[in-house]
Amino acid sequence: MENILEIKDLVVSYGIIRALKGVDMVIPKGKTVVVLGANGAGKTTTMRTISGVVKSVSGQILLEGKDIRNKQPYVIAKRGISQSPEGRLILGGLTVEENLRIGAYSVKSKSNIKKSFDQVYDLFPILKERKDQQATTLSGGEQQMLAIGRALMVNPKVLLLDEPSLGLAPLIVKDIFQTVKKIAAEGVSVLMVEQNARQSLLIADYAYVMELGTIKTHGTGDTLLKDDALISAYLGKKKEKPSAAAEAKADEGAAETSAAEEDAADEGAADNPE
Ligand SMILES: Nc1ncnc2c1ncn2[C@@H]1O[C@H](COP(=O)(O)OP(=O)(O)OP(=O)(O)O)[C@@H](O)[C@H]1O
Ligand SMILES: [Mg+2]
Repeated sequence: MENILEIKDLVVSYGIIRALKGVDMVIPKGKTVVVLGANGAGKTTTMRTISGVVKSVSGQILLEGKDIRNKQPYVIAKRGISQSPEGRLILGGLTVEENLRIGAYSVKSKSNIKKSFDQVYDLFPILKERKDQQATTLSGGEQQMLAIGRALMVNPKVLLLDEPSLGLAPLIVKDIFQTVKKIAAEGVSVLMVEQNARQSLLIADYAYVMELGTIKTHGTGDTLLKDDALISAYLGKKKEKPSAAAEAKADEGAAETSAAEEDAADEGAADNPE
């Protein structure tokens, strides 16, 4: 099978902290690959290194066979990798449509921009309904849709999603994951970091589990779902808080869950089998 992206022996350091200690991953064309792992495992670092925001020490990041490692973020974006970052980073003072238009900043062709708008509004009809509303008025789930939609405005080959389910209620998470599946079915390859292990494995073609900057294990979504020992050892820990309070917090535009809240959520951490 053809791989759109191949990561080979990737090493990343923040000063003396070695965050990635030789990571290997492949993302086949048009598939959804999920990256799981505990807090601090190196998931976000992997995404940010692919998109060029974080520089790596050594290794390879091959996009369609060509090494893009340590290129400037705008060059990588231009080559077809688009990221929806951890914490969404929606511009609250702007409307939905203005946020999407910013996503298309690098696209020159008006007809391509129009096509992207149509595609995003087709995937997320609620965004079309709300296109003239300020982004701050959106619910947490709608803001996440907007963040994904914005990343799609450049018509990417690869979509990087960092914890799209964070802070969202279970039903909305299901919705978002179904849309991710649809995006992949339309030919965009998806690399998605998640802590919502079971639900994300349900839609994953393939998954990697990271631990302390390395790949602990990998396999198809189905295989990992059946591995009870692995699920309880590595995937039981959650930082989502799928409660009304979390949704309300997301509604206020608060992107990150605080450490104290994460701990509180972890204590009640029965993974939602839905
Ligand atoms: N900007 C930074 N400066 C220094 N160390 C960092 C920085 N960003 C991350 N780290 C460290 O690198 C390691 C990997 O962090 P990373 O954010 O990639 O983990 P993660 O798997 O995304 O975790 P989480 O689930 O909490 O989002 C951690 O030890 C973290 O403390
Ligand atoms: Mg992270």
